[in-house]
Amino acid sequence: MSEQDIQTRVMQALKTVNDPDLHKNIVDLGFVKNMKIDGGNVSFDVELTTPACPVKEQLKNECQEKVSALEGVNSVTVNMTAAVRATEHTQPVLTTVKNIIAVASGKGGVGKSTVTTNLACALALTGAKVGVMDGDIYGPSIPKMLGIPISPPRGGENNKIFPHEKHGMKVISAGFLTEEGQPLMLRGPMLGGIIQQFLQNVEWGELDYLVIDLPPGTGDVQLTLTQRAPLSGGVIVTTPQDISLIDAEKGVKMFQQVKVPVLGVVENMSWFQTEESDKKYFIFGQGGGQKLANQFNVPLLGQVPIIPKIVEAGDSGQPITLTDPDSPAGLAYRKLAEQVAAQISINQFNKEDKIDSGFELAWEG
Ligand SMILES: Nc1ncnc2c1ncn2[C@@H]1O[C@H](COP(=O)(O)OP(=O)(O)OP(=O)(O)O)[C@@H](O)[C@H]1O
Ligand SMILES: [Mg+2]
Repeated sequence: MSEQDIQTRVMQALKTVNDPDLHKNIVDLGFVKNMKIDGGNVSFDVELTTPACPVKEQLKNECQEKVSALEGVNSVTVNMTAAVRATEHTQPVLTTVKNIIAVASGKGGVGKSTVTTNLACALALTGAKVGVMDGDIYGPSIPKMLGIPISPPRGGENNKIFPHEKHGMKVISAGFLTEEGQPLMLRGPMLGGIIQQFLQNVEWGELDYLVIDLPPGTGDVQLTLTQRAPLSGGVIVTTPQDISLIDAEKGVKMFQQVKVPVLGVVENMSWFQTEESDKKYFIFGQGGGQKLANQFNVPLLGQVPIIPKIVEAGDSGQPITLTDPDSPAGLAYRKLAEQVAAQISINQFNKEDKIDSGFELAWEG
């Protein structure tokens, strides 16, 4: 059989491999690249839209199996790669950042900052370029959670600010501007000034994902950030009990008000669990996160158990996702990161599809 014939068959086989999130086959999605046929030895890349793709292994195995089964094929090498797509926007800020995720909740203390840092670490673990913006100007906790000593960020020409770097991520926080343990005294106009600087002057360089930790609630800072930062989407953190859900609803409505897509809900403190056992204790009840997700027709992106080690990890500046990625907590955050990244990709494709079908309709008309 000629190499040309083999290539045709390989492409036909790959056309039956569907991306379950994007509902299209990987050939039509343009994921198959660098096909090389050398006698019966076949190799190609599958370029995904995010290195945090939740079905990466599944797709790889399916490609491997389907192509290996073809007549004339002796060996198959599938290289899984990723090129993160950028969410399109027209705002003239944060232009080197491909995707911006805001983590919000209606009320305080539900675990936003812990979700932010671990989500960011989990994305970075997949190989993505990641930044963290601490939008909690009054109560910045990101420096401590990531173990970054308080020191003013380096400045550059034209008021540029260079973010600190830690755990392979770029990080900016108003906490860097205070003295350790001292509150940051800010009045209205200064507050706006800091947010403006965070949006305009920080030299992030090329980033795949920037995760913003929003302050608790739905006040001015939250509105300014959600309006002015070109967000790919918002993530709502809630705890399972009803009383928390009422607040979380406000968070969802805030994003809807400024027309930012809600990527989904994270239920934190879903149950109590020790590192040693799988037994779950549902302290705050069950199903709250799912209920909220259903109410707004968005996915439940993940559930994170209450695990004492998460607190220790946060306090020591070593997020559990980095120190113990295969622990129940580490796994929960890594799964969450995959779902967040997938949801961003899905939204991007849906938008393109809408534009495409819009053209078709116009054409037919
Ligand atoms: N899944 C979890 N298991 C155990 N402890 C957790 C978990 N998530 C968060 N915590 C702890 O709960 C406390 C509050 O979490 P965190 O600071 O992330 O909440 P927050 O929503 O950012 O709070 P604030 O509204 O004050 O900014 C922290 O001590 C944190 O370590
Ligand atoms: Mg916080």
